[in-house]
Amino acid sequence: MEDRERKMGGGNLVFAVNGQRFEVTSIDPSTSLLEFLRSQTRFKSVKLGCGEGGCGACVVLLSKYDPVRDQVEDYTVNSCLTLLCSINGCSITTTEGLGNSKEGFHAIHQRFAGFHASQCGFCTPGMCVSFFSALVNAEKRNGPDPPPGFSKLSVSEAEKAIAGNLCRCTGYRPIVDACKSFAGDVDIEDLGLNSFWPKGESKENKVNKLPSYDFSRQISTFPEFLKDLKSTVLLDSERYSWYSPVSIRELQGLLESKVGNDMTRAKIIVSNTGTGYYKELAPYDIYIDLRNIPELSMVKRDSTGVQIGAAVPITKAIVELKDSSKTIMYDDAKMLWGKIADHFEKIASGSVRNSASIGGNLAMAQRSGFPSDIATVLLAVDALVEIVTVSKWETITLEEFLERPPLDSRSIIVSVMVPTWKQESHCKLMFKTYRAA
Ligand SMILES: Cc1cc2nc3c(=O)[nH]c(=O)nc-3n(C[C@H](O)[C@H](O)[C@H](O)COP(=O)(O)OP(=O)(O)OC[C@H]3O[C@@H](n4cnc5c(N)ncnc54)[C@H](O)[C@@H]3O)c2cc1C
Ligand code: FES
Ligand code: FES
Repeated sequence: MEDRERKMGGGNLVFAVNGQRFEVTSIDPSTSLLEFLRSQTRFKSVKLGCGEGGCGACVVLLSKYDPVRDQVEDYTVNSCLTLLCSINGCSITTTEGLGNSKEGFHAIHQRFAGFHASQCGFCTPGMCVSFFSALVNAEKRNGPDPPPGFSKLSVSEAEKAIAGNLCRCTGYRPIVDACKSFAGDVDIEDLGLNSFWPKGESKENKVNKLPSYDFSRQISTFPEFLKDLKSTVLLDSERYSWYSPVSIRELQGLLESKVGNDMTRAKIIVSNTGTGYYKELAPYDIYIDLRNIPELSMVKRDSTGVQIGAAVPITKAIVELKDSSKTIMYDDAKMLWGKIADHFEKIASGSVRNSASIGGNLAMAQRSGFPSDIATVLLAVDALVEIVTVSKWETITLEEFLERPPLDSRSIIVSVMVPTWKQESHCKLMFKTYRAA
């Protein structure tokens, strides 16, 4: 681990915001990314709305570099719930990073303005970043080039891109029109009142009058200097009170020495979205971040089922279940995994799902009776849960897991197994899931 810390320049917290390097040598580990951005940088577009992951006013783009695949992964997160120490080695883009009055605004800004999609403007920075994330990810896809001035997004994808962003004053029609104006399959006649063209303008002229957008010229979301740090970034745990075990054995050591005693208030953490639901009233002395433990971050598929690491975000679990359902040969498993993935897509908003973990959700359900969609749906398919403690490793059914007394603080969920259901010749399986809201 010392080697890793040395690579980070003494285990300091290093990250980028809109291409600018930040190195924070000491910080209260409970500081959120939102607090840091608004109080210690000039990037104040991010807003504190609900502080609970529900409104999207604080949404930023988080970009991570994968040195093995030489690829950057870009996704939105709620900066009100994201702790600063968890973005070590990452790059953050806010709406200021897309463009400004000096260097020129981004087509997203221009089209939001022209379609009258911003009144008080409180929600607009988060909306712009959510939509930017959708554009960035759409342009990475293979497939035919869109018509000039448009993106690879479809109308339906453009509409969904801002599903986690609430607006209290403009009304969604102009906002959705601004987003749809980028869609390759948009019917331009369908777009509402705007300042780009007068009523009665011809279709061709309308397209030409939209502020230009070139899908092939994307803003770089991950600066080169951060790539040198690679993925081997670990914080100096003592200085930041932030521990990032890289193996189960190391985790067990920390559980034994730091957790469950009267001296230290320790918090096991993955993405901290649980605090959107359960407010934290007292500060913690230390945080133990589970995201660097391979067993908790993997997804394995074999003939027995899909095993999902507890720290895997819901978005990734959805992708893996959908992929698995395409390749599995048993019809029942194909149907079940597809439906579970569809149901998971109804959980929270995209920016919450992008980081919120499967294990964090199940821990909330088990310990606090959280009304979890994940526990409800996986219970119906006889899922199994793998748990590790200081000295024991066991696999039990999800049903038994939920019936047990609340997990103690030294018990960690390692993974959940969604089993393969195989067709019985004499019966037909029916599986439906519902949500009240
Ligand atoms: C706005 C919003 C909307 C939501 N909507 C829904 C919804 O519609 N349906 C639904 O089911 N859920 C919903 N959730 C809950 C969401 O799925 C959980 O907050 C999330 O999955 C928790 O994951 P996390 O990685 O952020 O956990 P964290 O916040 O990091 O941790 C949550 C708790 O679990 C503990 N913990 C975390 N990982 C483990 C582990 N591996 N072993 C033991 N303990 C662990 C932590 O100590 C903490 O107490 C919503 C949440 C928010 C904020
Ligand atoms: S402030 Fe509302 S989601 Fe973060
Ligand atoms: S413009 Fe006021 S909240 Fe959206």
